Amino acid sequence: VTTTISPKQQALAAIAELIGDAGIVALDDGERYLVDHRSLYRGRPALIVRPASTAEVADVVKLCNGAGLKVVPQGGNTGYCGGATPDTGGDAVLLSLERLRGVREVDPVGYTMTVEAGVVLAEVQRHAEAADMLFPLSLGSEGSCQIGGNLATNAGGTAVLRFGNARELVLGLEVVLADGTVWNGLRALRKDNAGYDLKQLFLGAEGTLGIITAAVLKLFPKPRARETALVAVADVDAACRLLALARRESADAVTSFEYLPRFALDLVCRHIEGAVDPFTERHRHYALIELSTAASAARLDEQLRSLLEQGLEAGWVIDAAVAQSEAQRGRLWRLRESVPEAQRAEGGSFKHDVSVPPARLAEFLTRGLAAVAAAAPEARACVYGHIGDGNLHFNFLAPPGQALKDFFASHGERVSDAVLGLAAGLGGSVCAEHGVGQLKRPLLTRYLDPVSLRLMRQMKAALDPNDTLNPGKVVPPPVP
Ligand code: FAD
Ligand code: MLT
Ligand code: ZN
Repeated sequence: VTTTISPKQQALAAIAELIGDAGIVALDDGERYLVDHRSLYRGRPALIVRPASTAEVADVVKLCNGAGLKVVPQGGNTGYCGGATPDTGGDAVLLSLERLRGVREVDPVGYTMTVEAGVVLAEVQRHAEAADMLFPLSLGSEGSCQIGGNLATNAGGTAVLRFGNARELVLGLEVVLADGTVWNGLRALRKDNAGYDLKQLFLGAEGTLGIITAAVLKLFPKPRARETALVAVADVDAACRLLALARRESADAVTSFEYLPRFALDLVCRHIEGAVDPFTERHRHYALIELSTAASAARLDEQLRSLLEQGLEAGWVIDAAVAQSEAQRGRLWRLRESVPEAQRAEGGSFKHDVSVPPARLAEFLTRGLAAVAAAAPEARACVYGHIGDGNLHFNFLAPPGQALKDFFASHGERVSDAVLGLAAGLGGSVCAEHGVGQLKRPLLTRYLDPVSLRLMRQMKAALDPNDTLNPGKVVPPPVP
């Protein structure tokens, strides 16, 4: 009896042989790879592989591309848009980067670090710190997301105001292309205009144009002084004015400027162990402000004090809790960083990750809340985030006792239309920092202009003509 083995099966067998047992995860044991962080998607791949080197990644991609199999790269699987979850078609290889854990070089002269894609963000930060430097990218998921995933999503987080998004922290990349070729763009150059800036193609592309296997990251001098305060502010307009003043007063030492409404603080205090409101009075709006500098310590506390005094006089500041120790600083940050976890504990949130030009932020918040109140009066607004970047997480929770899914099955479209339509109308973005993945792909069709869509499709076709890499993500299909 002769049985024919299809090219796909042959390629899968070759991959299993090549990678070996240590690099293969049985599908039955693969729950944490198969379901996305928000449990919106469950993938059904043909195989889960964990290559241990760039060469192995390249071999897997080459075999897949040749046999018509798809490749879905996965980092820490903390993404919010289902980007790292394969479809249910059964012909994708889920490729985890978690074994690419090498720190190839730390250069204290050039202020760079060369790391492999699977290094967890918190580890990258620790390596920089151990060398008396700073890698400033910082997100609530930093204990599990990987630097490759951060670069693939162009992650934002809480230090963008001062240091930029992930994209701005990269000097060079090593990337496995769709046909398995390795592009060595691991250059540590601050100036390089030799043609197109090719690394930018892969940053924020969410694994649709290439698989990032290593990166040269920019480092900075480690801060010597840091001042952190949770400030009760009159409203978001007052917070924005305070930020502008803070930048002037501190010679641009504002590292973070995060907004929290009362509702978010209440959620955190209700659900997160040890979280306590530092004020005796309840306020409606808060800004978490951090100033930091690598220069001398003395001036920063004076600057913060002067800023708060001027803010009080102007009526922008109502009260402030200034951290007096590392422990207090940690506790203030925990109030901000635990908001996602607290929302989950309260039943989950219906998320909109939007940005507008910072000058339109206060108007956006007021009009957005009013529009949603009209569309779904019972929805509970939890709008917070990186106001220094014009980026609000315009989230809504279901009314108490109602399941998120059920409530937003009936109200979701109206709520999203109100928030996203307004953001777009104010010159904003409907995908600010969390990426597109599969979840937000339809939004691009709706909110991006036709020329941008055409360019994106042309880039995808040029770099990945067989649609091997992360199909069904980011780039919307052409409208028939
Ligand atoms: P994954 O989720 O594994 O993958 C994300 C996408 O990148 C997928 O499309 C995947 O295919 C692709 N990918 C992964 N690795 C590679 C690679 N090496 N090469 C090519 N493609 C790859 N995001 C923010 O921007 N700002 C925040 O403040 C923030 N806070 C968060 C807080 C919490 C509690 C959580 C759970 C998430 C938060 N996120 C935030 C979202 C998420 O953590 C980021 O998007 C993060 O950058 C994803 O990294 P990851 O390694 O988990 O990637
Ligand atoms: C944050 O800033 O906390 C996250 O990006 C938003 C979220 O987790 O919903
Ligand atoms: Zn965020």
